[in-house]
Amino acid sequence: MSLTAKQRLFLTIAIPFGAQLVHFIWGKASLLGLDGKEVTSLNNEKCVGIPELQGCEDAYVLEDRGLAYLACTPISSRLDWIPAMLKYNATALPVSSDNYFALLDLTTNSYQTLKIIAPSIVSDNLYLHGLDIHREKGSDLLTLFAISHRPPQDRETAAQEGANSVIEIFETTVGGKELKWVQTVEHELVRTPNSVAATGPRSFYFTNDHRRKVHWSRTFEMLYMEPSDIIYCDATSTTSDCKVAVDSVVYPNGLDLSPNGLLYSSSSAEPKISVWEIQSGDNSLVLADTIEIPYLMDNVHIAPDGTLFVPTFPKALELINLVKRATVDSQPTSAVEIYKVSTETGEKQFYGNKYKVERAFADDGSKVSGTTTSAPFKNKLLLTGVLAREVTICEIA
Ligand SMILES: *[C@@H]1O[C@H](CO)[C@@H](O)[C@H](O)[C@H]1NC(C)=O
Repeated sequence: MSLTAKQRLFLTIAIPFGAQLVHFIWGKASLLGLDGKEVTSLNNEKCVGIPELQGCEDAYVLEDRGLAYLACTPISSRLDWIPAMLKYNATALPVSSDNYFALLDLTTNSYQTLKIIAPSIVSDNLYLHGLDIHREKGSDLLTLFAISHRPPQDRETAAQEGANSVIEIFETTVGGKELKWVQTVEHELVRTPNSVAATGPRSFYFTNDHRRKVHWSRTFEMLYMEPSDIIYCDATSTTSDCKVAVDSVVYPNGLDLSPNGLLYSSSSAEPKISVWEIQSGDNSLVLADTIEIPYLMDNVHIAPDGTLFVPTFPKALELINLVKRATVDSQPTSAVEIYKVSTETGEKQFYGNKYKVERAFADDGSKVSGTTTSAPFKNKLLLTGVLAREVTICEIA
């Protein structure tokens, strides 16, 4: 059989394209956990739950004092208002916010709710997401940075306008029971903030998880996402100075500053952690490295020794189902796998590989579900989630 020129041209294009397509679809399938792989349990035997602490999206652990600060939202409010996941039912929210910060003692597992001292425009509109704390060496003063997705003034317009997100700065002392508001960072670059990483008492980086607050294309983000950015802000003066630190980052979600001075960001659309070098002159970020992780991720937390922990969604469709079908009374489960990344110690103990990536915790969703934060504390992990029905603390081997 001989082919016409047209047929030959068609095959020249179609065969490699077809192979690429199969490769693309297969890659996506395993990334989303559609390849049929089971989630095998790991370190999920020794866990304690604190069911009073619900909907805590993020946590910060003060290791030497055994304390954790958490940003929590009652499930009833959370179900109506998650701008990152297109939940924009602002009219259903209470007139003044029911969100709160909890201070958890990791030795006794007891907690208290911190008293917020702030103008009502701040406390009434506090809808929490990521948080981070800066602590000056040798000081008991803590600066807490919290992302707040304020509903628009006219709440009816939320689905068209998105949230009026800001970053609130508070001060407290170690173990203190009050959070004193200092400043609100409002800026056009604070678009879709997700995670914040403090670099000083008035300076921080944050991720914008999406390029736009609302857009029809966001419904199809599993297939294609517009890349977004990571922003640096200096809030030394009352008019905050923010700038794009790096652009074209695909769904940057978690962000944390390592004791080694590098920033680590995780992606909820690509299976990799990006390692960023802070440029001392202009605070821009330059990509230093990437670390491959098998699944889509949420917040990153780095222990004082530099070991990184990141929760992943080994069954991404379960997470989507959870967000879609959760009610105040019940919700479907979503499997969890936490990855641990150890960096090279200089002794070449990882046989020339720079990073050792291993599973630290796994559960099929029956004990721990939909985790968005895995903050290390000694030999334990503090697990919590945007829609989690409890905070869970698990001992890991
Ligand atoms: C928004 O909240 C109201 C009041 O709780 C509820 O009746 C309505 O179904 C919600 N809409 C959506 C789209 O969830």
